Amino acid sequence: MTSLSPAAIAVTGLRKSYGDKVVLDGIDLAIAEGTIFALLGPNGAGKTTTVQILSTLVNAASGEARILGRDVTREPDAVRDLIGVTGQFSAVDNLLTGQENLNLMADLHHLDKTASRRRTAELLQQFDLTDVASKPASTYSGGMRRRLDLAMTLVGNPRVIFLDEPTTGLDPRSRRGMWQIIRDLAAGGVTIFLTTQYLEEADQLADQIAVLDHGRLVAQGTPDELKRLVPGGHVRLQFADPDEFQFASQVLDAPARDESSLAIQVPNDGSVRSLRALLDQLDHASVEVTSLSVHRPDLDDVFLALTGQPDRERTTAR
Ligand SMILES: Nc1ncnc2c1ncn2[C@@H]1O[C@H](COP(=O)(O)OP(=O)(O)O)[C@@H](O)[C@H]1O
Ligand SMILES: [Mg+2]
Repeated sequence: MTSLSPAAIAVTGLRKSYGDKVVLDGIDLAIAEGTIFALLGPNGAGKTTTVQILSTLVNAASGEARILGRDVTREPDAVRDLIGVTGQFSAVDNLLTGQENLNLMADLHHLDKTASRRRTAELLQQFDLTDVASKPASTYSGGMRRRLDLAMTLVGNPRVIFLDEPTTGLDPRSRRGMWQIIRDLAAGGVTIFLTTQYLEEADQLADQIAVLDHGRLVAQGTPDELKRLVPGGHVRLQFADPDEFQFASQVLDAPARDESSLAIQVPNDGSVRSLRALLDQLDHASVEVTSLSVHRPDLDDVFLALTGQPDRERTTAR
């Protein structure tokens, strides 16, 4: 590579099949160092397969992938020295304590006793696990186990981290905690490659998002660029009085309306500015709204916008 700052992760034409099933059908990616990248897609899209190939666990059928300039197929050991992986399924041993799990990783990375003690203490502190360090991981909450899992990934000070669905199954508070940890890591210069099924998560965290559907990238861009593709965001206005409902329907230019429930849907990106504009408009016309709720575009909206159909697997799963 001749470029002065090669992409932290550079992928061209990545393909993978299992038997007759094409899982990845030509993936191209370029992810800058120190940024957060989110691979967004429903169940079965090929997210984990992508992570497995980029982290040298599985070989691609064709294509090329480099991590900080190192080829994942030809230089797997060099790549492994640069990366950390937190899989979709936890690497935590439930029979061991948090401390013991971390010690195991320190041994794997050949840290000597002093370095091991220092690094594991640092990580326990950073992930708020010091108080439970000597308890078996089986007694940990889901959020604590995820934090331990990530702490284990960080023992070797990786420069690139793969996080496969890091917040799936976490309660909202633990999820926000994990988001903050991920942001802090990126602020420290680590490149983050995460997968998620949640548009909101990608939106919250990522500098760049790619949408994976049936092994193909159907869109790439910043969160804002993607959301502009998605017309699903709207505000729902609820009325108690049929006259107010009729009046509002006229005031707001041809909105989607539901006569039976006296509700109106107005396209809106949910930003403070556009909400204020909507409220001002209603205020000016003296329309009495009973309640208002904001609906952000979700993954189904993305797929509807990009592929013309909601993802079936996901739709039926809900
Ligand atoms: N080892 C494997 N053998 C056969 N099929 C697999 C294997 N791993 C994944 N697949 C298939 O590849 C597709 C993509 O899987 P995966 O990468 O796990 O998707 P995601 O992580 O987005 O849910 C799925 O249809 C899955 O069944
Ligand atoms: Mg997966």
